[in-house]
Amino acid sequence: MIIANWKMNGTRQSVATWIQAVSNNINIKDVNPCIFCPPTCYLEYARRLVDENDYHIEIGSQIVNHSFEDESLTGGISTTMLKDLSVEYVLVGHSEQRNFLKESNNVITKKIEKALEDELSVIYCIGEDIDTKNKNEAYSFLSEQLDVFCQLQITHEDKLRSITVAYEPIWAIGSGLNAEKDYIEETHGFIKKYINDHLEWDKLDIYPAVLYGGSVNLNNCEEIISSTNVDGLLIGGASLNSETFSKIYNLS
Ligand code: PGA
Repeated sequence: MIIANWKMNGTRQSVATWIQAVSNNINIKDVNPCIFCPPTCYLEYARRLVDENDYHIEIGSQIVNHSFEDESLTGGISTTMLKDLSVEYVLVGHSEQRNFLKESNNVITKKIEKALEDELSVIYCIGEDIDTKNKNEAYSFLSEQLDVFCQLQITHEDKLRSITVAYEPIWAIGSGLNAEKDYIEETHGFIKKYINDHLEWDKLDIYPAVLYGGSVNLNNCEEIISSTNVDGLLIGGASLNSETFSKIYNLS
């Protein structure tokens, strides 16, 4: 799974140009979905372009604001709205949103539950900041973020299969300093083991994919994707250029 996370970038024109260029340039493989997460205001436009042209790109939302339909939230985007737009994926828990929106793990749990109920696939983002890393507390920090899964009220196997984890060390996001291969392999190994040990989803034959994100670019993508336990990439800055993104997809 290779995800383009455009954050707060783009125009209608650049969305259209990018979708067409990427669709023409990637060698799509069913085992490796290509997921485009434009800004929310372009979701419907992106969906329409993909459907009208029968492109093999899937659409994801960068955000879902609302845990409960009956709450009032000006500017909120609910899972029902995303489903109505035939959006397939949603990012939950991205560090920028945890930071700006002060999202607690409790709120994040509710978002995941609601998204799964509404048949969206969830990309659950986790990652430690630089202080936590330097204090050698990354694993306990990540454990708390992974404990979100222990709170889930959802037990339906098919829904649990719709969860992907994205490990994005905060210090690597947008910094140009990706995590080293060894660090990525160890941390992804830890994440997979923690999920197995604590949730025992392996008994249901469920092994969530773990993606890496944080300063992925054309030069480092091959090394990162070939790392043990790395099942895909979540790409911010380097996804904006269709040529770069297509090359990364094709190398992955
Ligand atoms: P970056 O962003 O690739 O620009 O570091 C990744 C992300 O925040 O998803």
